[in-house]
Amino acid sequence: MHNGTSLTQFIIEQQRKIPGATGDFTSLLNDVVAACKTISHAVNRGDLIGVLGTAESENVQGEVQKKLDIISNEVFLKSMEWTGHLAAMASEEMDDIYPIPAQYPKGKYLLTFDPLDGSSNIDINMSVGTIFSILRAPEGVENPTEQDFLQPGTEQVAAGYALYGPSTMLVLTCGHGVNGFTLDQGVGEFILTHPDMRIPESTQEFAINMSNHRFWAEPVRRYVDECIAGEEGPRGKNFNMRWVAAMVGEVHRILTRGGIFMYPWDSRDPSKPGKLRLMYEANPMSMIVEAAGGMSITGTERILEIRPEGIHQRVPVILGSKEEVERVAQYHSEAAAAA
Ligand code: F6P
Ligand code: MN
Repeated sequence: MHNGTSLTQFIIEQQRKIPGATGDFTSLLNDVVAACKTISHAVNRGDLIGVLGTAESENVQGEVQKKLDIISNEVFLKSMEWTGHLAAMASEEMDDIYPIPAQYPKGKYLLTFDPLDGSSNIDINMSVGTIFSILRAPEGVENPTEQDFLQPGTEQVAAGYALYGPSTMLVLTCGHGVNGFTLDQGVGEFILTHPDMRIPESTQEFAINMSNHRFWAEPVRRYVDECIAGEEGPRGKNFNMRWVAAMVGEVHRILTRGGIFMYPWDSRDPSKPGKLRLMYEANPMSMIVEAAGGMSITGTERILEIRPEGIHQRVPVILGSKEEVERVAQYHSEAAAAA
């Protein structure tokens, strides 16, 4: 039996430190946490409750939806729509933003989420996760439009993810520090197990989908080739490689022991500036990574400062241990200078 601080207690104690806090935000966070517990339960029971496999639909990005993508999206909508804390939601699995139904009171926050990240892992019983980001609705806006969501990541009030791995974890930041909680399945509570997570500044581990090597831009190729060259190469040290194929898993590994994760621009499809989505993948993860002392860029700019142009906008992502991300940024500026 673990006797630590529960996530509920942690959030309430944080709230008490903020003069004038109404409890609205605390309650919103608790509702998000409850939705993640429900998804965790469904993911965990898997084929016993028939949730594996593909649904007969595609999302707005043209990706085939898994049954669990749709179920997780529904869980979030149904857990959050009635609470009175939100003005609207947006998710990877819905073409348009989701206004709060008329019968429910509206709140002052906006929620974006990727209900089930890494969903190609579902059917093979590997780690998946949920990513979420909380923004404030612009002052006086009762019925938000997509435009009201398009705020840079620096405006996020909170961001977090749930990782459904061997244990279910929830990692959260409200801007100051990052804390990790492990779900005690027996009592249904998340317990603080990873206080103040910090990303080591240096690392010898990288994560990238190597099968895209021939499509990358020169600075990314240079960086990865130098890692692979190891002790005999210009870096003078050996590197290790990992690929979970779920961003939540990669970010969690980096928060735990350092590393660099890249889903960079590549030339496969000129209409796509990257694979990952800004509003519910790159921005929340960048907020977490920066709050833990790491860095997150596209190659040439800080992700959190991008002015979004669409709710499903894609961006290149390079994040993790500071020294390595700085090096990739430097290779990008050297390439630009040479051109
Ligand atoms: O959400 C997109 C995503 O599943 C990420 O979680 C993951 O990092 C990436 O795609 C995996 O991409 P690939 O299929 O190229 O390995
Ligand atoms: Mn995803």
